[in-house]
Amino acid sequence: MSWSHLLPTKETHAKSYRAAVAPSLLACDFARLEEEIRTVEKAGAEFLHLDVMDGHFVDNITFGPVLVKAIDTLATVPLDTHLMIENPDRYLGPFLDAGADILTIHVEASNDVRRDLRAIRARGRKAGLSLNPATPISAVEPFLEELDLLLVMSVVPGFGGQSFMAEILPNVTQAAKIRERLGLTFAIEIDGGINPETAARARSAGAEILVAGTAIFRTPDYAASIAAIRG
Ligand code: DX5
Ligand code: ZN
Repeated sequence: MSWSHLLPTKETHAKSYRAAVAPSLLACDFARLEEEIRTVEKAGAEFLHLDVMDGHFVDNITFGPVLVKAIDTLATVPLDTHLMIENPDRYLGPFLDAGADILTIHVEASNDVRRDLRAIRARGRKAGLSLNPATPISAVEPFLEELDLLLVMSVVPGFGGQSFMAEILPNVTQAAKIRERLGLTFAIEIDGGINPETAARARSAGAEILVAGTAIFRTPDYAASIAAIRG
């Protein structure tokens, strides 16, 4: 499946790139998983965002490779897989085998970020790196050349339905500036508390992929919600 056109390139950064929306299945009705995936894809989702939580790196526990694999058989859009787990290196293989197209680890959780990003790319997948609201952008700076996606958290990870932390917007602006200065091509994604209003602020700061759970799956019209978030 060819989907790289969904990610921004050096040429399309900022100006002409149409923001992509990645609905977080965390907020969907898991009893109707297949129907939810079909509906949200038909509504215009460019990606499906999968939140993997281990009860250690974050307080919540969600799902692992078994469910990612099941989702992979149902989905037609790329799986944007967000690992909120300790020691991600132990699980990269299983999540890549399960069908993760983008695999994102947390800079706070990895023992060797460079090694992990390279392991993901070595399998021909897109490597993502995420930072928590309290983590300075300098923590991810050494790795920017090794990644395809930078995921800026706009809530403390662990749960859906939290309020957007506007104080992280400078992280997005700074990342976009560094990217331009270094001539790099990674996409900037934002995750947590995204709704049509906060999405507009995130987009103007430089975010290109917008993750949203509650603001899509807890609304009656997914297509309208996705369109409003995309702006
Ligand atoms: C937070 C997760 C998010 C979350 C977003 O730990 O990484 O992806 O599901 O949910 P909303 O959009 O409801 O804030
Ligand atoms: Zn997430």
